[in-house]
Amino acid sequence: MSKSKSALLPGERCDSEWCEVRNSGIHGRGIFAKKTIPAGTYIIEYVGEKIDKDEANERGWAQMDHSLETGDAAVYIFTLDDEWDIDGNVPENAARLINHSCDPNCEAFIEGGEIWIAALRKIPKDAELFFNYGFDLENYAEHPCLCGSKKCVGYIAGEEYWPELKRRLKKKKG
Ligand SMILES: C[S@@+](CC[C@H](N)C(=O)[O-])C[C@H]1O[C@@H](n2cnc3c(N)ncnc32)[C@H](O)[C@@H]1O
Ligand SMILES: [Zn+2]
Repeated sequence: MSKSKSALLPGERCDSEWCEVRNSGIHGRGIFAKKTIPAGTYIIEYVGEKIDKDEANERGWAQMDHSLETGDAAVYIFTLDDEWDIDGNVPENAARLINHSCDPNCEAFIEGGEIWIAALRKIPKDAELFFNYGFDLENYAEHPCLCGSKKCVGYIAGEEYWPELKRRLKKKKG
């Protein structure tokens, strides 16, 4: 993966030369390519407050309660390592607005204590950016997926959980 980090453009709502905030057809706001993005590009950093696991747990539940009450989008806690998480619920973190897809064009990964969103393939101008949120199956029914891709499994879940998810959905159908 080529490491061409985006130049920061201070004062811009989305601090990346590659993308910007727009309304999404899938959910609320999303992040869209401002121009063609080459495969492997480091597009935007997922920034926020570094917090320990206890604090993350507390904030995670509070964010979940808030989202259930308001219907607003949910939890912004991102696992950094065994000790630390990032709470990305801060206005300068435009990456928090990236929606999930079962066939994503981006991936989120951790490098040198930073969380980056990078292009998995060449992304055309104006395409919405997505990564797989990697949720486990706890409460999966509360997270229906509307990504609309051919690969969509119906719920927001990490690909490693798909066999089990499909098994459960088949069983439910009877
Ligand atoms: C971190 S937010 C993403 C930004 C969100 N669109 C917004 O406007 O704030 C995550 C929430 O967006 C929604 N979302 C993201 N991807 C989705 C998808 N593929 N299908 C349905 N809802 C999705 C869910 O409500 C999820 O809890
Ligand atoms: Zn989907």
